[in-house]
Amino acid sequence: MKHSEDRPLTSDQTPLGRMIETRLSRRTILRGGAALSVVALSFGATACSGRGGGLSFKELPHGSTDDHAVADGYDAKVLVRWGDPILTNAPSFDPTDVTAEAQRQQFGTNNDFISFMPLPKGSTNSDHGLLCVNHEFCVPTQMFADVNFANATKVMTAERGRAELASIGHSVIEVKKTDGTWAFIQDSKFNRRLTALDTEMELTGPAAGHERLQTSEDKTGRKVIGTLFTCAGGKTPWHTVLIAEENVHYSFSGTPNDPREAANHRAMGFTGPGRYPWRAAAQPRFDLGGEPREPNRFGWIVEYDPYNPQSVPKKRTALGRFRHEGAGCVLNHDGRIVVYQGDDARFECVYRYVSDDAFDPDNPEANEQLLDKGTLYVGRFEEDGSLNWLPLIHGSGPLVNKNGFDSQADVLIETRRAARFVGGTPMDRPEDIDVNPVTGTVFLMLTNNTERKVDETGAANPRGPNPYGHILEFVPPVADNGERDHTADRFEWDVFIKAGDPADETHEAAYNDGITPDGWFGAPDNCAFDPKGRLWIATDGAPEGINDGVWACEVSGSDRALTRHFYRVPHGAELCGPEFTPDGETLFVAVQHPGLSGPNSLFDNPTTRWPDFRDDMPPRSAVVAITRKGGGEIGS
Ligand code: FEO
Ligand code: CA
Ligand code: CA
Ligand code: CA
Repeated sequence: MKHSEDRPLTSDQTPLGRMIETRLSRRTILRGGAALSVVALSFGATACSGRGGGLSFKELPHGSTDDHAVADGYDAKVLVRWGDPILTNAPSFDPTDVTAEAQRQQFGTNNDFISFMPLPKGSTNSDHGLLCVNHEFCVPTQMFADVNFANATKVMTAERGRAELASIGHSVIEVKKTDGTWAFIQDSKFNRRLTALDTEMELTGPAAGHERLQTSEDKTGRKVIGTLFTCAGGKTPWHTVLIAEENVHYSFSGTPNDPREAANHRAMGFTGPGRYPWRAAAQPRFDLGGEPREPNRFGWIVEYDPYNPQSVPKKRTALGRFRHEGAGCVLNHDGRIVVYQGDDARFECVYRYVSDDAFDPDNPEANEQLLDKGTLYVGRFEEDGSLNWLPLIHGSGPLVNKNGFDSQADVLIETRRAARFVGGTPMDRPEDIDVNPVTGTVFLMLTNNTERKVDETGAANPRGPNPYGHILEFVPPVADNGERDHTADRFEWDVFIKAGDPADETHEAAYNDGITPDGWFGAPDNCAFDPKGRLWIATDGAPEGINDGVWACEVSGSDRALTRHFYRVPHGAELCGPEFTPDGETLFVAVQHPGLSGPNSLFDNPTTRWPDFRDDMPPRSAVVAITRKGGGEIGS
């Protein structure tokens, strides 16, 4: 989701010093890669056939079109769209009558994160599984004919508010590939909608039950209705899905009468009237005046079991509360679980969670606790190329009563404030973080930051302003057994790519020298690795004249950081959720908000009507399945 109105948040931290020279010697070390045993570190990827392997697809030209496009030799087919009926007896999509009752049975809008969960559970089947998809936000100007960007509150009704809340959240659909083509099964017992309207969820972990999570509707502080602004996510080795709650501040409006919570909400970006007038739609919980603690029940990582349609989703407070982009989960060599997380706002931080206990494949009940008991850390990037992980523990360092932290619950509810106190580095909007299944190194997308000043730049955020974004690679140390230690206090890191046009010196872009005129991009957002450990980057905010899409590259060898353009989205869309099947033969992508192209692109005259291209159908976000013509691995 774009964040055009975001403002930098105040920081107690001294700005980092001036940019240091790229550390070529360290880059050479990174090229050397890691011990092969790191393959075992990551789940969700099949055994690999070695590093690299050569990206041989014919590169797609840059473009700005109403339709999507993929590199020659590949098919890109729409699998499911906003409004498609996914539950038994669900009504067909009627764009002239979008109701809550219909939406809660249909595929949600603005698809973001995608997780492919094979069937049977625990297998690496790449032809049959569950597609678990976030629905981040809704676009009322594409849902209702009389809404424009100026009158949303005026024309809001209780039923519209309910329909909007039902259109977002998350979907589970059973999907199957037959004769090379993917389809979803409408009557599957697994199909499910989680909505912001009426899906009951549970708060767990150190902050659960705390008075700051109690409201007039929930005196226990443990029961929440719905999930909001579900952006990217992750998956665990015990086959659950993680949903990241991101821009929850858009949901609330009004003035809190509680000074402590007012300051807390300001730190999360609750500075304006709220983008969605749900307070005016008979939804009093979105009124900050009446329910100043309700926002504290959003902004968490949500875990649920997609294989059990009755499972109650759990908001895991131990992982902190901020504007979570995603949750890159990895099984450390000692069995502990590590979750890397970005807080997507200007000058916000990067986090890491480490579980106390080890994963036990034979004890599913014990694994239920892994995301409730552990330590949250914030990253501090040093000018010498080291990354220190600083623990956020109540009672240690500045996280004490005199600074307003009375318990670990306060530290977790106000994670951003705690991070500033201990010295986390303010970054250029940290979005997706994923662990490479081959090298065991960690890649962070920093999408952009147009508000960073030159004197606020540093080694980890080297451009001010930074309109094009960059990518960092973290290198955990190698443990005695030869595997990467994701729990170490100190990593190394390097700048992997500085995005922008390398032909324009003012961009100060940096890629592999072999980059073509179509190989560059702007605003890296989500990412995925294929089974060979090659990086696939999805963008949100391409420069004028270039649609967003997917670019892919090797991460080591002579083609390191040589990105090539593979797929592009229609006008007005961003690209989310890249996800490979375990065999690397299908790439699922989420085309989000096609036609969201400024104040004049409205219900009656959108800039594109992708993917239906029918005069009676609005543009619809959709999941696209990309396969190679004739079959085979994507990319090579
Ligand atoms: Fe929902 Fe930061 O993208
Ligand atoms: Ca984004
Ligand atoms: Ca994103
Ligand atoms: Ca990802």
